[in-house]
Amino acid sequence: MIATFSINGRTRDVDVQPNQTLLDVLRDTLGIFDLKEGCSEGVCGACTVLLDGRPVSSCLILGLSARRRRIMTVRGLAGDGELHPLQQAFLRHGAVQCGFCTPGMLLTGLAFLERHPNADRAAIREALAGNLCRCTGYAKILDALEAYARELNGRG
Ligand code: FES
Ligand code: FES
Repeated sequence: MIATFSINGRTRDVDVQPNQTLLDVLRDTLGIFDLKEGCSEGVCGACTVLLDGRPVSSCLILGLSARRRRIMTVRGLAGDGELHPLQQAFLRHGAVQCGFCTPGMLLTGLAFLERHPNADRAAIREALAGNLCRCTGYAKILDALEAYARELNGRG
């Protein structure tokens, strides 16, 4: 069936199968590859998108359930050719790791800090519990998110 999606501020009409996950709709049907497929079972966070501002694992939900809701992938963060301040913080702190984990870390971290700008490092770490990196580490990512939180609070 044809369903209407709002993706990174743009409306798209898409032919969707009832059993397709949102991950499959975005990657396989629409060719939006900035979200990744890792575990396909809701564990790794590589497929994270924001749905109405909240992070979800797109491998766990049906595409049709996201109709007419705001979907944001990491590509939607930058505006007018400028990186989002959180992306800039990731760059400054050397937190841009691989393309599998970084998009989900950015989106989950952003959604969390927008709701909890005073969160401390432990709370930020807990918020990222569903975004896994098995090869590098989390220290620089946490540094970047803490720096962004300070910016949000006018202490950057
Ligand atoms: S691919 Fe969705 S959580 Fe791992
Ligand atoms: S999974 Fe991306 S750096 Fe480890």
